[in-house]
Amino acid sequence: MKVNNKIYRTVWLENRSVFMIDQTLLPFEFKIFEAKNYHTTCQAIKTMIVRGAGAIGAAAGYAMAQAFFDAPDKGFKEFIAKAKTDIENTRPTAQNLFYATNRVCAAAFKSQTPRKTAVQEAHKIANEDADNAKRIGELGSGLIRSGFKLMTHCNAGWLAFVDWGTALAPTYVSHHNSKNVFVYVSETRPRSQGAKLTAWELKNEGIDHAIIADAASASFISQRKVDLIIVGADRIAANGDVANKTGTLAKAIIAKEYNIPFYVAAPTSTIDLDCQTGRRITIEQRSEDEVLYQTGLNSKGKIEKILVCSPGSKALNPAFDVTPAQYITGLITEKGIIKPDNNSIAELLSQ
Ligand code: MRU
Repeated sequence: MKVNNKIYRTVWLENRSVFMIDQTLLPFEFKIFEAKNYHTTCQAIKTMIVRGAGAIGAAAGYAMAQAFFDAPDKGFKEFIAKAKTDIENTRPTAQNLFYATNRVCAAAFKSQTPRKTAVQEAHKIANEDADNAKRIGELGSGLIRSGFKLMTHCNAGWLAFVDWGTALAPTYVSHHNSKNVFVYVSETRPRSQGAKLTAWELKNEGIDHAIIADAASASFISQRKVDLIIVGADRIAANGDVANKTGTLAKAIIAKEYNIPFYVAAPTSTIDLDCQTGRRITIEQRSEDEVLYQTGLNSKGKIEKILVCSPGSKALNPAFDVTPAQYITGLITEKGIIKPDNNSIAELLSQ
């Protein structure tokens, strides 16, 4: 996608450095962060300089490649095993992270030139992520008619992937095809990925949108002011249950009550067949500071973090919730749009 007329990906590898758009500064500052080794890339994933399922996956694949660069010949395997554990401990819910570390290691250890193969495989993962997201956009745009009012949650736009995004990709394709669309952007407390990142993306693309308080979605849905809801996914269980940013479950239940189609857009790399149901998905518990404090621009134009809750109260911060498959109309993947159930998912993955 373009920023200031220049095409960017969210994350890329150049020489031995991983470069990432620093998402902690957006929408106020556009800066590129450089991680020179896998430890710094891990830190960037943990602190959400890079975030979103596909972008985390690509960053994790590149971090793994960086570990292969840095691993000494003596103790090579032990170094890689430790690096893999470090990378996988950064964020537990996003399936794409584990998909990438496993894929890079499997390919590299099978090869005579593990360092070179690790880099090639990491690039492949990043390229596939961008291609799959584009395809999701093309397939998903078939669900959108001109004049539609869409709703989304969190940010599953291009910043959350290497390019294009998932939940927003159908909107981008529809907009490029001259369909007239409007997006309700749910702010997504506590970190406000909707208000900050999704709104920034849509503004850059010139797509009509409005930020709404998370708590206002029910009212817009109940008044039938929403035609279609599309969200992303951090992990999809074998039975179609979906872990996504906290607040997704409430929207899905309300959408079902009012008969509004509720779709989840995600590449097949987000599906975890080892996870039978959503109850087995590990939900990341993040720092209470994300609830207690907000970061924004102060009157001097400087980014500042301020306390927005009663001093001394504690906070709970589960980053994701699980939406049972029964509330989901369909899964939009790069291989097709399917029902969220065991058979449809197994059949899709066997293609
Ligand atoms: O905690 P984040 O910002 O990394 O959460 C990921 C998300 O952006 C959402 O849950 C998203 O809807 C799915 S990931 C594309």
